[in-house]
Amino acid sequence: MGARYDEIAALDAAYHLPTYARQPVLFVRGEGMRLYDDEGREYLDFVSGVGAVNLGHAHPAVAEAVTRQMSTLVHVSNLFHVEHRAALAERLSVLGGGGWKTFLCNSGTEAVEGAIKLARKWGKARRGNDCFGVVSAERSFHGRTMASLSATGQASKQDAFAPLLPGFSHVPLNDIEALAEAVTPETCAVLLEPVQGEGGVYPCDLGYLQAVRGLCDEREVLLIFDEVQCGCYRSGTPFAWQGYGVRPDVVTLAKALANGLPIGAVMASGSAAEAFSPGDHGSTFGGGPVVCAAALATLHALEDEELGDNALSSGSVIVEEARALADRTDAIADVRGRGLMLAVELREPNAKAVASSCLERGLVLNAIGDTTIRLLPPLVCSEREIAILLDTLQSVLGGI
Ligand SMILES: Cc1ncc(COP(=O)(O)O)c(C=O)c1O
Repeated sequence: MGARYDEIAALDAAYHLPTYARQPVLFVRGEGMRLYDDEGREYLDFVSGVGAVNLGHAHPAVAEAVTRQMSTLVHVSNLFHVEHRAALAERLSVLGGGGWKTFLCNSGTEAVEGAIKLARKWGKARRGNDCFGVVSAERSFHGRTMASLSATGQASKQDAFAPLLPGFSHVPLNDIEALAEAVTPETCAVLLEPVQGEGGVYPCDLGYLQAVRGLCDEREVLLIFDEVQCGCYRSGTPFAWQGYGVRPDVVTLAKALANGLPIGAVMASGSAAEAFSPGDHGSTFGGGPVVCAAALATLHALEDEELGDNALSSGSVIVEEARALADRTDAIADVRGRGLMLAVELREPNAKAVASSCLERGLVLNAIGDTTIRLLPPLVCSEREIAILLDTLQSVLGGI
């Protein structure tokens, strides 16, 4: 590591609140699936800014849209109409099969927060002030603000900040009986990630999501899908729910929507789309001209380059080859996920050591927990990069 890295790491340690244990590398440039550090060394990126750079780094269409907008108009607030905002909401509705209205914000946690507020208002209008409960899944991750943290199903992220908000309960994923028991007349929404991300990459079962849809209809409860991580073509379709054929009432998006610029979206359809009135919710920066231009360019490029199809085909190659590697070594217990949202589950609790050794060899991976390596590459990932991933994993797993 160079002098520049040392200087920046020292400043970071001295002046940032220590909420992250950062990796020992200083990336200064990116292109497609490749990242370059301050000494010009090349890396292959299988994290894409935690699933936020689905088109790959420095995509020219996004760079061009952002640069043009930056030098035209950056910010006027939500008090006024701006170019691209309405077009983006229309595009999202079309991609979702029509009938959607969107609120734009700045991050995933804000999108979930907005969805919870919308569901509470919807529930209270239906069944009175006590109807504000939200049932979500154990091991889920929905964000870090107080409502999204309360919805999150991970005590390790919540305990230090108790008391959490009232009205949140958690059930095991893929267990419809547990959900049916947890949903009461005081429940306004069921909130699920179709593919759990931060919790370890656990997809919902198809039969489960179909049954959840039926239950929500029967009990008159909103079904919210948090697609902050699994949306934006990562699991093969514009929205992950389309791969299941189960349409929710509310969807949250963020991460890859503007290919790495901060944006979030709450999309609602049917009666949920009627819940908010002017003054109910807002954001100074949400839906600003620059991020909306970036998001429109991103969505067009994802579609034009057929990256949903590539996510499916490259994802199945990785699964197949990683399972073959599991047969050859004793180190891998499981490979799971959908599209290019995958996890390699190790038998030993050495995921962090594996990710560190891969980083030293120029491969960027993400360890979640002790045993899980998460793969979230840009959706441009091709067989060439997959071969390097598997070779590197094989040599690291063989030597650990
Ligand atoms: C499913 C899900 N929801 C919400 C969030 C929070 O998003 P953000 O970090 O943009 O606030 C994340 C982040 O990883 C996520 O994966």
